[in-house]
Amino acid sequence: MKKDITYLHTKKREQQPITVLTCYDYPTACLQNEAGIDIVFVGDSVGTNVLGYKSEVEVTMADMRHHLKAVRRGVTDAYLLVDMPYAADRDVKQAVTNANLFLADGADGVKLEGGIEKVPIVTALTEAGIETCAHIGHNPQIHGTKAATHGKTFAKAKHLIKAATALADAGAKLIVLEKITEEVSHIITDTLNIPTIGIGAGRFCDGQVLVINDILGIGPPFKHAKRYQDYNHLTFEAICRYREEVANGTFPTDANTSHIPPDKLVRVRKWLESER
Ligand code: KIV
Repeated sequence: MKKDITYLHTKKREQQPITVLTCYDYPTACLQNEAGIDIVFVGDSVGTNVLGYKSEVEVTMADMRHHLKAVRRGVTDAYLLVDMPYAADRDVKQAVTNANLFLADGADGVKLEGGIEKVPIVTALTEAGIETCAHIGHNPQIHGTKAATHGKTFAKAKHLIKAATALADAGAKLIVLEKITEEVSHIITDTLNIPTIGIGAGRFCDGQVLVINDILGIGPPFKHAKRYQDYNHLTFEAICRYREEVANGTFPTDANTSHIPPDKLVRVRKWLESER
């Protein structure tokens, strides 16, 4: 069953948690789709997690489109969300043009970072019929890699709640709450009628998103995430064993090998002889 925005809003109303993971490639997309993840999300974290960039701001539209198209090929049921990379939503015209490129590549919706200042962009995208996911709290494109927790003071809590409400009123269909105190995220979740998707935002959001690398154990551990696998260790071990077996001649074996029938081999050898 194709999961659309109505399905995701119904999940909020029925208090069923929405599951979201970042995804950057086709095989992982197939697995996430098969596992029943609700939103497969091509985040601009592809830059630091896959492309070896120092920060999200290096990620381009071309990078995002390349990975989006790979993920699209693996997703049949999940809602496919894609991140606007840095400056791709600099103004209304550019935002709508770039979002339409993503839709043409097969995205169901686009996510953009920023608070109340992004209301005109969300309004324009909504008017253009594009489903938009807002993203407040820690915004890597704006705040850099140092992720401080947001919403610890009265003023900051009020600012976040106002931003979330304004973005939802502008037409945002979903909102990511990143590194926001659990209490403020809870208030935002109860206040809005669109689903909140938390990352480091506590237990009371309508859904949770994590970076796929973090659940697999690729790269450093983070307090907000949980490792379900030790991919680094497993991959390194496999690479070392392969290198060792090639070096000491135990791979490949006859089981990995194909043969020419003996009579044909005799003919090849005879022909070779005659050519000398
Ligand atoms: O790009 C990304 O991975 C994100 C998540 C942290 C929500 O924006």
